[in-house]
Amino acid sequence: MPHLALLGGTPARKQPFPQWPQPRPGQLAALQQVLESGKWGVGSPFIAEFEKRFAEFQQAKYALAICNGTASLMIALKACGVKAGDQVIIPAYTFIATASSVLMVNAVPVFVDIDPETYNLDPAQIEAAITPTTKALMPVHIAGQPANLDAILEIGRRHHLPVIEDAAQAHGAEWKGRRVGAIGNLGSFSFQSSKNLSAGEGGALVTDDKALIDVCFSYQNCGRVREGAWYEHRVLGGNFRLGAFQAALLTAQLATLTEDMQRRDLHAHYLDERLREVPGIKPLLVHPNVTRHARHLYIFRYDAEAFDGLSRDRFIDVLRAEGIYCHKGYTPLYREQLFSLDPRQHPWIEGINYRELNLPVTERAGDEEAVWIPQSALMGTEKEVEDIVKAVAKVQMHVGELTANRE
Ligand SMILES: Cc1ncc(COP(=O)(O)O)c(C=O)c1O
Repeated sequence: MPHLALLGGTPARKQPFPQWPQPRPGQLAALQQVLESGKWGVGSPFIAEFEKRFAEFQQAKYALAICNGTASLMIALKACGVKAGDQVIIPAYTFIATASSVLMVNAVPVFVDIDPETYNLDPAQIEAAITPTTKALMPVHIAGQPANLDAILEIGRRHHLPVIEDAAQAHGAEWKGRRVGAIGNLGSFSFQSSKNLSAGEGGALVTDDKALIDVCFSYQNCGRVREGAWYEHRVLGGNFRLGAFQAALLTAQLATLTEDMQRRDLHAHYLDERLREVPGIKPLLVHPNVTRHARHLYIFRYDAEAFDGLSRDRFIDVLRAEGIYCHKGYTPLYREQLFSLDPRQHPWIEGINYRELNLPVTERAGDEEAVWIPQSALMGTEKEVEDIVKAVAKVQMHVGELTANRE
């Protein structure tokens, strides 16, 4: 009788993991208040309240609520002066929006490789990618772990480049005791369904720079200026505002976010310790300057050699059959069909052939190594995380059942 569930054995876990997003105390009442207020959108005090509270939470002077985290990146790029044809340095191991937001403002994403231990943008490789047309650096705090902001800001200062933090996954994360977002020039957040702070959809920008947040306001709000009249439009903007219902959901959830973060962190630490004991499993490292990891994803590195040569993708199938929801995560963004751009039709990408790009650490992570467990698995009890450890150890112990008859 085989042990592995994929071959007919008993799964390590039969119950589902906690669902996400989860309703939080106060959210229903908050939604009702908005409903009855008659102010469901622009001008609603619920939106202003959320902006105030979110700025405080991220230790920023200003926050602006936006309809989603892709639009907030586009606004951040425009507010930092990125124009058509300008280059923006980003990692290729991230969600597509980091790159598509750059393309949406007609600028050029320039991909730089990641650090093999953290999967965050590798600062040592940034300078070689800077050209006279580089106009911004856009690190991503991947999985909720802040990128190396000291090193990236230093490069930004030296080359007079603004730093936009893509903090879509990093609510509440801290670098050297300071919350991310306003450490760089602007920080962009997402409140899409999967995020640790969620309203189904939503986004925000934070900064300490008053002039910059005012420019963002104009792009977000149809080109209006704060001191101008309602029908006065000085620049080209769109409607990228957040609605009041979402703002109310978010404000109510801020009350429990710190407690949720502690729970995720506790369980992630436990997984780090226990999974490290399994041969062939290496959790990502947390940089010593990261004083708080937002734990949006739990990522470990898988070494097929220690599993009898079982590929990472097959390992994921086996672990899923054991009842553990996991995922292989991102593939290198430059391999997306979107980047099969013909330079004759897109002259601004001249000199950049995405099809020939090879970033070895990004490719190893995407193709062979990374295994993701979503944050909702960290939101349960010790039993949930214990089941993850048991299932991974079980696969390691019985992997021979799968590989025995393989030629
Ligand atoms: C790293 C990163 N950047 C940007 C985004 C875009 O956010 P949204 O889905 O709210 O547009 C996301 C999330 O989905 C993300 O994970």
